[in-house]
Amino acid sequence: MSHKFYVTTPIYYVNDAPHIGHAYTTILADVLSRFHRALGDDVFFLTGLDEHGQKVQQAAEKRGLSPKQHCDELAPRFLDLWKKLGISNDDFVRTTEARHIRVVQDILQKVYDNGDIYQHEYEGLYSVAEERFITEKEAESGQFREIKRLKEKNWFFRMGKYQERLIRHIEDHPGFIRPESRRNEMLGFLRQPLGDLCISRPKSRLAWGIEIPFDRDYVTYVWFDALINYISAPGYLADDAKFRRWWPATAHLIGKDILTTHSVYWTTMLFSLGLPLPECIFAHGWWLMGDSKMSKSLGNVVKPLDLIEQHGVDAVRYYLMAEMILGADASFTPENFIKRYNSDLANDFGNLLNRVSGLIAKNHGGVIPPAGEATAAEEEIAAAGRTLGAKVEALVRDFKVDQALNEIMNLIRAVNKYMEAQAPWKLAKTDLAAAGRVLYTATEALRLSAVLLSAVMPEKTAVVLDILGAKGSGLQWGELKAGTALPTFPPLFPRIEVEKQ
Ligand code: ME8
Ligand code: MG
Repeated sequence: MSHKFYVTTPIYYVNDAPHIGHAYTTILADVLSRFHRALGDDVFFLTGLDEHGQKVQQAAEKRGLSPKQHCDELAPRFLDLWKKLGISNDDFVRTTEARHIRVVQDILQKVYDNGDIYQHEYEGLYSVAEERFITEKEAESGQFREIKRLKEKNWFFRMGKYQERLIRHIEDHPGFIRPESRRNEMLGFLRQPLGDLCISRPKSRLAWGIEIPFDRDYVTYVWFDALINYISAPGYLADDAKFRRWWPATAHLIGKDILTTHSVYWTTMLFSLGLPLPECIFAHGWWLMGDSKMSKSLGNVVKPLDLIEQHGVDAVRYYLMAEMILGADASFTPENFIKRYNSDLANDFGNLLNRVSGLIAKNHGGVIPPAGEATAAEEEIAAAGRTLGAKVEALVRDFKVDQALNEIMNLIRAVNKYMEAQAPWKLAKTDLAAAGRVLYTATEALRLSAVLLSAVMPEKTAVVLDILGAKGSGLQWGELKAGTALPTFPPLFPRIEVEKQ
């Protein structure tokens, strides 16, 4: 059965230089999108940029540019990186686009008209770095920077009014906030009374934002603006048919740093608009450098472009997807990148391909030999191959890309063992048909694995399928065509030799 699959990434702050944390969420969305497209699902993959707010205004001022000019200059850093990483997004939203601004203003008016926005004078602590009012408790936590006391007349959204309804929704939908630890964290957070949300900034303090339609002296708070991208892009209040086709989103992929804004601010905004909530908010963990979070302010970021230049785009995609258990933190080090690459890609996968094609060239005239009569040993591999597609599909539908990759690599590892046990290089001397049968089976497992890995490594797997004459083949065991001539080719994943100091 084909399904709808609408997946989003956060829209990243245009000011930050993209690092592997941003690349991770975007590659994850891309991998899921490619898998779902291959499964025949109807996919809409959205990413984009968050361009308003104080930090952008300040950065532009420093450079003597208008904020819009500044954003236009910075946006290509993301667009170029996504292109290099093979990201297959269907839309790219920038919050400075007219199509987005119009929807934000219409929504403000709508929520105001239905009585969920009111004016109030507020005095409290404000974190300039986080661009929001914070509680005394939050200020004491030490997690907020550039704190000052502010007294201001502002516009507020009646978020607290929806607290009970939100708690009920989370309780009734176990898969709504994932993983479960994050769901519990949010339910814990919601045990405290939920206040209302300040959604305006006076222009005298911050001019770079979307003007509030019913009060021209104010712009709207950057999060109220940014979250709306998830519905402005698929046509809310602009293209009904399109919007009905895509909303509610299947999954908002985010890092755990922005869990509250998504599971509390965004959901209550949707309640006020009378719109259904997304099916799932999935908060993954952090990429750490050693023990600390990778972030620009800490100056410890890994630049994805450097990695791509050194090891190729597919190796980077594979590493990020395989190394992080979805939901948990992962630590990036050049050493474990090399270790993972050498063991999975160079040894297990790449060597197997070299080995079978080398033996086919040497003993079978360079032509894929016939499958022959399966013995128990072939049956074991074939049985694993026959169930692999369904296993991987179920894991991917459940967002478990790292486990899906592990299942695929398990087949490859089993085939390497099978090759060792059967030794087709020896068999060829006594029983050429038996040697052929082993090589067909191993090559077929490679083909099937390449099909299943193509969402993660689109370039390299296309090369493999081309070599095997199996472009466009599917998930049935036995689709590999005997009699196909194999060309010679350079090693797919050359081993990274680490210089010993
Ligand atoms: O928060 N590890 O944008 P942002 C894993 N504009 N993922 C990471 C990461 C790390 N070390 N660092 C960043 C914003 N990310 C808002 C979002 S959405 C309506 C508005 C990823 O540029 C992760 O997905 O700070 C995280 O949630 C996001 O980048 C934050 O990006
Ligand atoms: Mg951030």
